[in-house]
Amino acid sequence: MWLPAVLAFLVSSPFLELVQSTSVPAHASNYSTWMALSIISRNQGVLASSSDISAILQAGITQKAFTRLVKQYPHANSTEAIAQYIKRSVDSVAGPVSNATKDLTYAMDRLSSGNGLIDLYKETGNDTYRTAFTGLRNSINLNSRNVEDGLWYFVYPNWSYLDGMYSLVPFYAYYTILFDARNASAIADMMRQLDLLWTHCAAANGTGLLVHGYDDSKTAVWADPVTGASPHVWGRSLGWYTMALVDTLEILPRQTHPSEWALLHARFCQLADALRRAVDATSGAWWQLLDQPGRAGNYIESSGSAMFAYALLKGVRLGYLENGVPAYTDVATRAYKYITDTFVVDNSTDGTLGYNGTVSVCSLNSTASYEYYVGQPINYNSVLGSGAFVLASLDRCIVLYRP
Ligand SMILES: *[C@@H]1O[C@H](CO)[C@@H](O)[C@H](O)[C@H]1NC(C)=O
Ligand SMILES: *[C@@H]1O[C@H](CO)[C@@H](O)[C@H](O)[C@H]1NC(C)=O
Ligand SMILES: *[C@@H]1O[C@H](CO)[C@@H](O)[C@H](O)[C@H]1NC(C)=O
Ligand SMILES: *[C@@H]1O[C@H](CO)[C@@H](O)[C@H](O)[C@H]1NC(C)=O
Ligand SMILES: *[C@@H]1O[C@H](CO)[C@@H](O)[C@H](O)[C@H]1NC(C)=O
Ligand SMILES: *[C@@H]1O[C@H](CO)[C@@H](O)[C@H](O)[C@H]1NC(C)=O
Ligand SMILES: *[C@@H]1O[C@H](CO)[C@@H](O)[C@H](O)[C@H]1NC(C)=O
Ligand SMILES: *[C@@H]1O[C@H](CO)[C@@H](O)[C@H](O)[C@H]1NC(C)=O
Ligand SMILES: *[C@@H]1O[C@H](CO)[C@@H](O)[C@H](O)[C@H]1NC(C)=O
Ligand SMILES: *[C@@H]1O[C@H](CO)[C@@H](O)[C@H](O)[C@H]1NC(C)=O
Repeated sequence: MWLPAVLAFLVSSPFLELVQSTSVPAHASNYSTWMALSIISRNQGVLASSSDISAILQAGITQKAFTRLVKQYPHANSTEAIAQYIKRSVDSVAGPVSNATKDLTYAMDRLSSGNGLIDLYKETGNDTYRTAFTGLRNSINLNSRNVEDGLWYFVYPNWSYLDGMYSLVPFYAYYTILFDARNASAIADMMRQLDLLWTHCAAANGTGLLVHGYDDSKTAVWADPVTGASPHVWGRSLGWYTMALVDTLEILPRQTHPSEWALLHARFCQLADALRRAVDATSGAWWQLLDQPGRAGNYIESSGSAMFAYALLKGVRLGYLENGVPAYTDVATRAYKYITDTFVVDNSTDGTLGYNGTVSVCSLNSTASYEYYVGQPINYNSVLGSGAFVLASLDRCIVLYRP
């Protein structure tokens, strides 16, 4: 009863007042609550139906960003509305994902709601959530694999993508720690997925960046004959992988898994260094295709840029990037400023914030050519971008106001 009232309130004219009174956006550094309430007012991150496959990843990133927000500002007066919205998003996913066999009709993105389901189960003890995340966990065992045990991202035989790691790895780690702690092969399998992508997708020329994915059978039109790698470093896919590393470092206890933690940490540091070197010197943010800076048609993309800013800021906050803190803070805060100046749109009509410049889906079920990646449509208000922006904003605020 209360929830619809809150939502009606959010989309009505007092929304502007709520935003002004709760998120203190007068100082433009605190955009997280404002953007979250705007996402809610657009009704994003909630599955409209069980066939709404493309919304599954949108739900997952919305839940993860909002969960962080509620943790960071537990006493803000928008927190209750945001917490209720997390529940609404998780509830929309719980039914559709509960059957492990049927889960295979979704891409690996289905797993992005796993942590939200576990959190609500811990909070309420409601078995609907347990059934759903158990279904997701069992679907990993049923998922097709290549001969090296690499999980297929979706129905395409033997293809694995960086994208899937954000959905798989933090869930795999969280589930195993909480419910299957003695299952060493689960952690080994999780590490193997990251490792196969790290090995196959390493850009050939020592930039330290990773290309979008690989075909283990090397038969795709785009596949490198030796590694199976696709040709380009796509910002958002590398963003998903980088966020998977930094989020899993937080979830996986260093004490119980020292060698795994050390390897994830070393790789996160290597990627952070590669990202620092790949940042565009003029704007301070990152290209749609990081391996083709300045080439005609290429552009600075807003979802990948927000993901990298978030990962670097969080890496600094949690002490993972202890070597070179000032440099990483500078890179990330400069990127964040470019994002807010360029992509964040203050809609003075209804008081919401918009988010521009996010590329729509880029699939390897394509030529995977330069022209393909730079020719995909650019969306306004894609929650894949605005959700990452909420995450970046939360860490930006901490770094900025750290005593
Ligand atoms: C939020 O809290 C502030 C004071 O902390 C109050 O002035 C304001 O009215 C509250 N806003 C809403 C929408 O409850
Ligand atoms: C940012 O917004 C939150 C939620 O309204 C608030 O609790 C917090 O104090 C704000 N932080 C800053 C630095 O303004
Ligand atoms: C799960 O889905 C599969 C495939 O769609 C179906 O055959 C099976 O009956 C479902 N199981 C349950 C318990 O609904
Ligand atoms: C458990 O959660 C589901 C989904 O929100 C809800 O439909 C159901 O009524 C809840 N069950 C109980 C016992 O609260
Ligand atoms: C342990 O994890 C592995 C790898 O995911 C899985 O195949 C196996 O079923 C799990 N064992 C148990 C008892 O859940
Ligand atoms: C680096 O490698 C990527 C992908 O393997 C390629 O697209 C790019 O052109 C290379 N850059 C340079 C400077 O050689
Ligand atoms: C997957 O790769 C293996 C080994 O490269 C190959 O034998 C198999 O035919 C491929 N699977 C499909 C469905 O193409
Ligand atoms: C601003 O808000 C109005 C009213 O909700 C909406 O019609 C319009 O599309 C929004 N414009 C932008 C640029 O977001
Ligand atoms: C989004 O960006 C495009 C390209 O720069 C621009 O044409 C469009 O007006 C922008 N949309 C909004 C709502 O600012
Ligand atoms: C892959 O691309 C082909 C050609 O565009 C299309 O017909 C097919 O539906 C795509 N497959 C999936 C699963 O989207």
